[in-house]
Amino acid sequence: MRILLIGSGGREHALAWKLAQSPKCEKLFIAPGNPGTAQHGENISLDTTNFEKVADFAVQEKINMIVVGPEDPLVNGISDYFYDHSDLNHIAVIGPVKAGALLEGSKAYAKAFMKENNIPTAGYTEITADNLEEGMDIIDKKTTPIVLKADGLAAGKGVLILLDEKAAKRSLREMIMDEKFGEASQKVVIEDFLDGIEFSVFALCDGENYKLLPTAKDYKRIGEGDKGLNTGGMGAVSPVPFVDEALMQKVEERIVKPTIEGLKKRNIEYKGFIYFGLIKVGNDPYVIEYNVRLGDPEAQVVIPSIKSDLVDLFEATANGKLNEIGIEKDSRSCATVVLVSGGYPEAYEKGKEISLPRETNDSIIFHAGTKTDDGLLKTSGGRVLAITSFDDTLKKALEKSKRLCDTIDFDKKYYRKDIGFDVLT
Ligand code: AMP
Ligand code: GLY
Repeated sequence: MRILLIGSGGREHALAWKLAQSPKCEKLFIAPGNPGTAQHGENISLDTTNFEKVADFAVQEKINMIVVGPEDPLVNGISDYFYDHSDLNHIAVIGPVKAGALLEGSKAYAKAFMKENNIPTAGYTEITADNLEEGMDIIDKKTTPIVLKADGLAAGKGVLILLDEKAAKRSLREMIMDEKFGEASQKVVIEDFLDGIEFSVFALCDGENYKLLPTAKDYKRIGEGDKGLNTGGMGAVSPVPFVDEALMQKVEERIVKPTIEGLKKRNIEYKGFIYFGLIKVGNDPYVIEYNVRLGDPEAQVVIPSIKSDLVDLFEATANGKLNEIGIEKDSRSCATVVLVSGGYPEAYEKGKEISLPRETNDSIIFHAGTKTDDGLLKTSGGRVLAITSFDDTLKKALEKSKRLCDTIDFDKKYYRKDIGFDVLT
């Protein structure tokens, strides 16, 4: 199998690390990849927004499978491009077609889809310039906090949770009339606020069947105790201690199965990951959001916790045969702690030299925002590295990761020391 993996973050390093372990992986290219992925395959520079160029490369290099890490190429139709060209459709693409990617690409679409399929989620109304006044009335009648979501992709910044009506009205007007998030906020979803604890469930889906991956919980705020600005994710744990069999059964019956049935009803052949961003309210799960990819940094705990061969799983995904294979999961606890550049998620400096320890014991160092410059490893992003460890308890896994974080050095390094604080028993 000759595989092309698209993406450049910690999630893609975890995927590259795992794919390269498969005896079936004959050659792995990563576009563009990072110094971490370069340990497992060949990084290539390729304009992945230009599908014609991706196709030319795939044909030239006799690629059999394309694995898409981030959502952008999916929302823009990379899978459709390969399915729709008869000379390309022998190449498997792991990631849904555009119609499936709308679950992440449009909040309004996702809400309507959930409503149609009776999938538990917060109540909502869609607002555009045409019914802005209705939006203002809804805000007046709602109890705070008020949740406003830009309809389209807004680089993870399109969700606002406002504590008073005045701020909510101002934000709604700015989103729609001033296009605060560009085109993405021409339409806004006003949602009921759900009070509970969040967790994530991932399914790999072949259009008909699915396999559930280990559960995970990520920590999005920059500060300890989940305070401060939202980030891409400061750490993650897997599996999630409070997600017991009873809760998981509700998730499967009320959310996972109706989602897959709903996609089939819409004639969407969904081959790829579905990320269910969930919240437990009382004892019941609700959907906060869908994503059409793996999470980052959730992938850095979920992927290493899968013992089965990932190329086997992806082949079965492409061939509609996930029902014919099993998925073996690691029984240990897994944690990842993300090292970031000081200042992130606001302005931060790049190009700081990174020193890595010689000995990592059995922890894994996943690269996110790194580059090599004159033979030296340097920072090149806000999230720099993710340190993943296993142990028989989550507490011990977290301690291992934090110990390794202390031995890694770069100027203005920061990491949260309290990842997992709310789920440790
Ligand atoms: P998202 O960018 O869609 O991941 O949303 C960001 C965060 O906003 C989520 O992780 C939740 O913490 C929060 N959130 C979104 N929708 C709701 C809701 N209806 N009720 C409570 N919190 C929400
Ligand atoms: N960690 C959140 C996400 O990947 O969307």
